[in-house]
Amino acid sequence: MSTAEPDQEPPASPDAGAVLEARSVFRMRTVDGRQTPIVRDVSFTLQPAEFATIMGPSGSGKSTLLHLLAGLDRPSAGQVLVAGEDLGRGDEEDRAAVRRRRIGFIFQFFHLLPDLSVVENVTLPLRILGQSPRKHEGRVASLLDLLGVSHLRDRLPSALSGGEMQRVSIARALVTQPPLVLADEPTGNLSSKAGEEVIALLRDVRDRLGAAILLVTHNPRDAAAGDRVLFLHDGALLPHAELKGGPFDVADVFHRLQELGV
Ligand SMILES: Nc1ncnc2c1ncn2[C@@H]1O[C@H](COP(=O)(O)OP(=O)(O)O)[C@@H](O)[C@H]1O
Ligand SMILES: [Mg+2]
Repeated sequence: MSTAEPDQEPPASPDAGAVLEARSVFRMRTVDGRQTPIVRDVSFTLQPAEFATIMGPSGSGKSTLLHLLAGLDRPSAGQVLVAGEDLGRGDEEDRAAVRRRRIGFIFQFFHLLPDLSVVENVTLPLRILGQSPRKHEGRVASLLDLLGVSHLRDRLPSALSGGEMQRVSIARALVTQPPLVLADEPTGNLSSKAGEEVIALLRDVRDRLGAAILLVTHNPRDAAAGDRVLFLHDGALLPHAELKGGPFDVADVFHRLQELGV
C-alpha cells in the first residue's frame, strides 16, 4: 500500500475477523444539479463463509453500494475494509490489488470476454495475477466440475445459455480462492429455473469452498436464500428489519417487506 503509515491503522474493531466491514459509508451523486446521497450511512459486517443477501427495489442503490464494497468506486465518506484492509488507504492500483486477491465479482450481465473460451475466461484472473493456469489445472478442473460446466470448457460464450454463462462467471469469480464474493443481481438476466439453480450453486459454493457471499437483489426469492437478509431503502439499510437464521421461506421475506411498507 503506497500511502500506508503505521499511525493510519484503522481503529481496532470488534469485528476484527470480518471479511468485509462497511463503516458509515456514503456516496453522493449530482442529481438534478443537487448533491444527493445515493448510499447513506451504510454500516454492516460480513463474517467468513457467511451468505448474506441485500434486498432492495430497483434504484435503491444496490449496485452503487456493491461497487463501493468492491473498491470499484470510492465512498464520499466512510470506510470499507476487506479482510482488514482499508480500501480507502491507497490509490487505484492498491484497490485493484485488493480486488484481484480478495474479491470475486459476479455481474448481472456476466461480462465474459467473447473471444476467450470458457476455460480461458475462468482462468483469466489467475493470469492477471501472474500465475500459470497450468499450475492450478487440477483445482480449475474441480471448479468447472463443481459449477457443472466441465463439458463446456472449450466453447465460446456465444455458444452458451444464460444459465451456463452465469455458472462460468461464478467459476471465474472463485478461481483465485477469494474470501469474499460479491454478486450483483446474478439471476436478473436468467429464466426462473436457471436463476434457482444459480442461487443453489452459490449456497453450495459457500458450503464447499467457505467463501463469504454477499448477494444484492430485488428478487425476494433470491434474498430468501441468505443466512441473513438485509433491507436497503433509498440508499440506507434498515437495521431493525434484518432477518437472521436463514435460509428463509420466500413468504418470510414478503411478510417483512409488507411490515416495512416498502
Ligand atoms: N452515475 C450516476 N449519477 C447520478 N445518479 C446515479 C448514477 N448512478 C446511479 N444513480 C442513481 O442512484 C440510484 C441508485 O442506483 P443503483 O445503485 O444503480 O440502484 P439499484 O442497483 O438498486 O437499481 C438511482 O436513483 C440511480 O438513478
Ligand atoms: Mg443494480
